[in-house]
Amino acid sequence: MAAITEQRVRDLLAEIEDGYSGQDLVSAEALRAVGIDGAKVAVDLRLGFPANGFAAQLAGQVKSRLEAERDIDQAVVNIDWQVAARKVQGELKPHAQIRNIIAIASGKGGVGKSTTAVNLALALVRDGARVGILDADIYGPSIPRMLGVKGQPETDGKRIIPHQAHGLKIMSMGFLVDEDTPMIWRGPMVTSALQQLLGESEWGELDFLVIDLPPGTGDIQLTLVQKVPVAGAVIVTTPQDIALLDARKALQMFRKLDVPVLGVVENMSTHVCSQCGHAEPIFGSGGGEKMAADFDTPLLGQLPLDISIRAALDAGRPTLVAEPDGDISKAYLDFARRTTARLARQPRNLKLDMPQIKIQNR
Ligand SMILES: Nc1ncnc2c1ncn2[C@@H]1O[C@H](COP(=O)(O)OP(=O)(O)OP(=O)(O)O)[C@@H](O)[C@H]1O
Ligand SMILES: [Mg+2]
Repeated sequence: MAAITEQRVRDLLAEIEDGYSGQDLVSAEALRAVGIDGAKVAVDLRLGFPANGFAAQLAGQVKSRLEAERDIDQAVVNIDWQVAARKVQGELKPHAQIRNIIAIASGKGGVGKSTTAVNLALALVRDGARVGILDADIYGPSIPRMLGVKGQPETDGKRIIPHQAHGLKIMSMGFLVDEDTPMIWRGPMVTSALQQLLGESEWGELDFLVIDLPPGTGDIQLTLVQKVPVAGAVIVTTPQDIALLDARKALQMFRKLDVPVLGVVENMSTHVCSQCGHAEPIFGSGGGEKMAADFDTPLLGQLPLDISIRAALDAGRPTLVAEPDGDISKAYLDFARRTTARLARQPRNLKLDMPQIKIQNR
């Protein structure tokens, strides 16, 4: 019997994809060590994005593939993950406590930005990450309500302590103003308020902060994206032409400002009738796909128009919390994994002095 070689193990791993990054395990630089002892093989893999929900399954898949080799009797496969800080735009200083800030944006209002931001953040928590969410939508802050928190956050005398719910740290412009105050703030005021929330809150160490940006591509968005150190942006759109047109503008804005666009998520893709289960693309179909193709960016997810998504948010218990094992939560988890897997393909941030190596438990 020919002995198994490290090269052969590598070749086998190069045929297995992690399922989210679009890369095989070798190209994704996930392989850390191979040990061979006769017909026994041990493989150590590390992914660059949260994987608690699927690492064991992937490990099983790798193990089966290895053990299908004639020369391997037994394979021990260990998979963990670690989120590294990625590069931010231009000369901006990265946030000291937050490895990666992800901006959720849309050109048009009402397409489901906040819905997407909240469920994305919760999906990342579910996969084991330390996550915060910052509602930057001064004119229509909705994140606190969607997560069932309210009231002014406490301070410890020096810093603001974010609210916490469902494993998330939460800050909102909404905490600074009461719901009925018409906002007459102008761009620079919004920007400095946001910078303050970002800089003066006690986030603790976070893997990700999801920022829900106000809709549009005006002055406010422009200054926000210039001043906040963002690692990547996700564009939310509905399949409708008009929303797509605006989404294109948003996408171009980020690219111009040197923020990598991680991809597009299509919200309200199809309507599933709650009576008969029939799925209908009432806002058109294929829009997100076409936009992603036109801009050479991935389509990270497609979420149905489903009354349960809205009802869950209205109750302050988003879908990921209310129906953690349902199909919609599964769609959000896939979307979150594709997003962070994409982020993990961006260049690292070498300007950061925070320790880069910290192994997450699985
Ligand atoms: N996929 C969906 N299925 C059903 N309802 C949805 C879905 N996505 C969002 N909604 C509902 O649509 C409304 C608008 O969504 P959301 O507030 O997330 O949009 P937005 O883009 O953040 O809006 P704004 O521009 O006002 O900030 C909310 O009532 C939300 O519950
Ligand atoms: Mg919103």
